[in-house]
Amino acid sequence: MCGIVAAVISSGDIRAEVLAGLKTLEYRGYDSAGMAVLHQGEISVRRKMGKIANLEAELDRNELPPSGLVIAHTRWATHGAPADRNAHPHRDDKERIVVVHNGIIENFLELRQRLADAGHEFSTETDTEVLANLIASHRNTGLELHAAVRAALKEVHGAYGLVVMSADDPEQLIVARMDSPLVIGLGDHGNYAASDMPALLHLTRDFLILENGESAMLRADSMEVLSAAGKPIQPKTLHCDWTPEQAERGGYPHFMLKEIHEQPDVLARTAFDRCVDKDGDVDFEEEFGLTDAELAGFERLRFMAMGTSLHAAMLGQKFLAELARLPGETLNASEFLYSAPLEEGNALTVVVSQSGETADSLRAMREVQRRGGRVLGICNVQGSTLAREADHLILTHCGPEIGVASTKAFFGQVTALYLLAIRLGRARGVLNANQGREYLHDLRNLRHHFEALFRQESLDEIKQAADFLTGVRSCLFLGRGLQHPVALEGALKLKEISYLHAEGYPAGEMKHGPIALIDEHFPVIALSVKDRTYEKMLSNLEEVRARGGKVIAIANQGDERVAATADYVISVPEVPELLSPLVTVVPLQLLSYEVALGLGRDIDQPRNLAKSVTVE
Ligand code: M6R
Repeated sequence: MCGIVAAVISSGDIRAEVLAGLKTLEYRGYDSAGMAVLHQGEISVRRKMGKIANLEAELDRNELPPSGLVIAHTRWATHGAPADRNAHPHRDDKERIVVVHNGIIENFLELRQRLADAGHEFSTETDTEVLANLIASHRNTGLELHAAVRAALKEVHGAYGLVVMSADDPEQLIVARMDSPLVIGLGDHGNYAASDMPALLHLTRDFLILENGESAMLRADSMEVLSAAGKPIQPKTLHCDWTPEQAERGGYPHFMLKEIHEQPDVLARTAFDRCVDKDGDVDFEEEFGLTDAELAGFERLRFMAMGTSLHAAMLGQKFLAELARLPGETLNASEFLYSAPLEEGNALTVVVSQSGETADSLRAMREVQRRGGRVLGICNVQGSTLAREADHLILTHCGPEIGVASTKAFFGQVTALYLLAIRLGRARGVLNANQGREYLHDLRNLRHHFEALFRQESLDEIKQAADFLTGVRSCLFLGRGLQHPVALEGALKLKEISYLHAEGYPAGEMKHGPIALIDEHFPVIALSVKDRTYEKMLSNLEEVRARGGKVIAIANQGDERVAATADYVISVPEVPELLSPLVTVVPLQLLSYEVALGLGRDIDQPRNLAKSVTVE
């Protein structure tokens, strides 16, 4: 949540590049935005409530002077309402120190009182202004800027990714992190910092990733990185395989639509470009680090995640049972922390996260590790906290996902989980080499079915159903078996970008309560493809219709029985049962997109949400 971009270059003006980087981060928070520059020994700041476009307009009206030392921020409010005055960057009361900060300083009230007693004045309600004054108070004791920042951070409890600029230290920036991501970009003519790599891809693809407690002083041509203990260190560099173009809309009106359409490519990128060996067997990249003997030793798997990733994890558990005959459980990561600390035993915990920075998932991972368990991360972002701290890793290689509503990341996660289940099935002797290859063959073949999903006839069916949904206030998504997590995902997608109320249910549960809601204004979206649940789903459709409810059915192409019962049919191709969630989820993503479009919603940046939830 919140985005940071900062730059220090040897000569010239870097304002435009920093602003361009900030725009790629708008998905992280969009309540307000701001920028600060150092010019001729003075710090100038512009801040504006609302989206970055408002800041841009402000910068047009009230230009900042050119500068090679720039910091900028886009905010998702925690302390203090969205307002110009609460937007970052924040200065100390003497206007010599300026800070952009992601995270929460938990003891800010206590620090604020102490600083106020010492004569500091405050003009905002934010914890970041307290931080700026705290750093200034240490700098005023004669400490160098880097030492002053570290001294201040010693007094702070909470999470931060921050960048500090000082009017008295004109050629440097100080960066630090604790439980909030921060990367350093290495350029030819300068160095950069950001909360996410996409913000800097137009400047560099070479990065250093700071660990918790580490800090760095960045100059244009050098840097000093200190460990949590304050010792100079040389962190490993990482070359990012994302391109700047991947972080652009590429002609699509929204990132979400672009990312939905990228899903056929994700199939190749997640599975076949990297995770299949020359004999056609699943073979993960080096970071996976689990041998077949180790895999065969696990007695159960536990999956943990949040939001869309949780729905992917639920499918992972089902794949595991089908292909490896191994029991598993799927838990909401935030709830795991409150469960009784049972023995880990011989379990592997799989933490699934697109960003690798979701606070609830990271806490759950660390708790498992604290209890002596092992964690396999499934993650899209190289160098993220999950990618670094998990004991084992599968990267999904989906490319940057910018739309707040997760689409292609889900697709990559489900694909990776299917591969994991095959590998486990092979390791446990449940699948022989040929069977493993057949399951992979099914996955490879899926690509041919995507054309049908994006055909004009299918898009027309989706649009008709979407037009109808724009007129309702609430709806129910039903699915059984493998389609249950898809129903949950469909409901989540619809509510987060259209703001319609939607619930996902296992269809068998409908008669145990939700059926009371059904009338002509309360439709049901039913996942009724030809799998082992088909007949039962048809009965559910009849029950809805008998109560006057409208039915939108996701059904296989040419299915007359469903067509006879449903008011709207969205056709999908028939594919092997285990892979059908990868096919049925696509029209649900498009359906929510079309409903949100019809209702005039802000699709890529829905209200109140942020792309990665880095606070619990
Ligand atoms: O980065 P993660 O996959 O860990 O994020 C988890 C959820 O916050 C995320 O899936 C969220 O629910 C999305 N907005 C769903 O579209």
